[in-house]
Amino acid sequence: MAVQPSFFILLLSLLAVTGNVLSEYTTSLYLSPKTISSNYDKMLQSFKIFVYPPPPSTETPLFTTRQESHFYTSLLHSPFVTEDPSQAHLFFVPFPNSISTRNLARLIRNIRTNFPFWNRTLGADHFYLSAAGVDYSSDRNVVELKKNSIQISCFPTSSGLFIPHKDVTLPPVHSFQATPSVNVTPAFLGYMKLTDQIPYSLISEINDHPDFKVEHEPANTKAKLKFTKSSRFCLFVYGSDMTWMVEAMALRCVPVVITDRPIQDLPLMDVIDWSEMAVFVSSRGGAKGLKRVLDGIEKSRYERMMESGVAAAQHLGWNAEAQAHDAFHMVVYQLWLRRHTIRYARWVEQ
Ligand SMILES: *[C@@H]1O[C@H](CO)[C@@H](O)[C@H](O)[C@H]1NC(C)=O
Repeated sequence: MAVQPSFFILLLSLLAVTGNVLSEYTTSLYLSPKTISSNYDKMLQSFKIFVYPPPPSTETPLFTTRQESHFYTSLLHSPFVTEDPSQAHLFFVPFPNSISTRNLARLIRNIRTNFPFWNRTLGADHFYLSAAGVDYSSDRNVVELKKNSIQISCFPTSSGLFIPHKDVTLPPVHSFQATPSVNVTPAFLGYMKLTDQIPYSLISEINDHPDFKVEHEPANTKAKLKFTKSSRFCLFVYGSDMTWMVEAMALRCVPVVITDRPIQDLPLMDVIDWSEMAVFVSSRGGAKGLKRVLDGIEKSRYERMMESGVAAAQHLGWNAEAQAHDAFHMVVYQLWLRRHTIRYARWVEQ
């Protein structure tokens, strides 16, 4: 019996697809492990973003943080940008970090009157970069921007200017290498590096506990590297310095975030499953309670968290030139997930 050649081709392509999915997306790292791979590919094929011209005579560079600059430059050099707004899924409004509320209102008013796109969704298919977040204002233009458009800020957003259902954060920039696994017996259960004084009795309790190592800045990089590698967990106080959390993950130190309220601004929060790679504990149990929680994590679970952390660190890391699945592409992926908005065919003034 002759076997149809097309059958083989189908089989081969099925194998190829499965192989790709398995190699990259097997861990429980993702919130939607079944769809992320195909959805990401769809994004690469079809996502289009229209970029408005920056306001005239603004200083350069537009953005003052490294992660914003990385995002902006990568976006402008990416194939996602289109010159044809009729093809665009989303619209990017660039303005400098230093813009005044008045000038921001004027910028949005100009966009509203000179282009037909703002009125269709009142800004819901628009996004902007603002390191600290745009402040609340009574100006109608700024209100619509703040309430409807997607805000991209820098993690952590301490200011309360973050709206969880739509806004996203950029992970901090690091220069580190993921380390291969080595079999060392960790000297400490947890390591904490403090850059600022936190009025927290828990800190001094942790400081006095022999299983934990607390270091105050200025800590030199070598010491930090040594303690990170020789500790099972790296401790962070939410609201304090969280910027090296991704670095800790890449160095195989499982992050522990001490927080008494839910955190809503973690980077890639609707893509990766943070509970699979970080431990969130309240401060109420003190150092003893903290130790009990950490000791209660089984070895197999701990190792899975460590591996997930190393894998997630790839998604949370920036590259001078954007690479597949890196921080730039994953933040764009979050935008892609937010592209569905209702567009009114015609704006009717009420
Ligand atoms: C958008 O709506 C406003 C009224 O809210 C109107 O003044 C403006 O001209 C409209 N823009 C366009 C491009 O039609």
